[in-house]
Amino acid sequence: MVTSNLRAYALAGAVLASVSSLAIAAPKGDDEGAAKRIAPVARVELAPATAGAAAGSRSGEQIYKSICAACHDSGAANAPKLGDKAAWAARIKLGLDGLVKSAIAGKNAMPPKGGSDANEVEMARVVAFIANKSGASFKEPAAK
Ligand code: HEC
Repeated sequence: MVTSNLRAYALAGAVLASVSSLAIAAPKGDDEGAAKRIAPVARVELAPATAGAAAGSRSGEQIYKSICAACHDSGAANAPKLGDKAAWAARIKLGLDGLVKSAIAGKNAMPPKGGSDANEVEMARVVAFIANKSGASFKEPAAK
């Protein structure tokens, strides 16, 4: 009697242990893996929304900071630096339209649109923003 009860408890314990390790351990591991896989995507998708700006409505400064600064702040890939009037003087002579066309098309190490998803009016804003910090006095198209 006593022996068979003990055996029953032991069996029940073993079954419970294996059930709980299946029920808790396996899905938990999956959730953690899923959270890690989803996290970077969620962050990328949230960034423009938290900035309160849909594509087409971003200011020159917003686009500059999120994309162009990577090269034009540091001079990476020999990009003319923001505020370097000597480096920008000859380029500014192209006029805003000429510079915008050039930036949209890309030039040497400068990828088309600087690798951004900016539309034409946003490109005009950000090019005016950069040029105006570097000696020009272009009119930056208004943010809508
Ligand atoms: C990967 C680095 C990189 C990024 C990112 C980048 N640029 Fe450039 N940019 C360059 C380089 C390098 C040049 C110089 C090209 C040359 O004259 O050979 C340049 C030149 C320019 C010029 C002058 C073009 C001309 O005809 O002289 C403009 C305007 C410009 N960039 C705007 C932008 C804007 C606006 C952004 C962001 C949307 C941007 N760039 C992002 C590397 C970059």
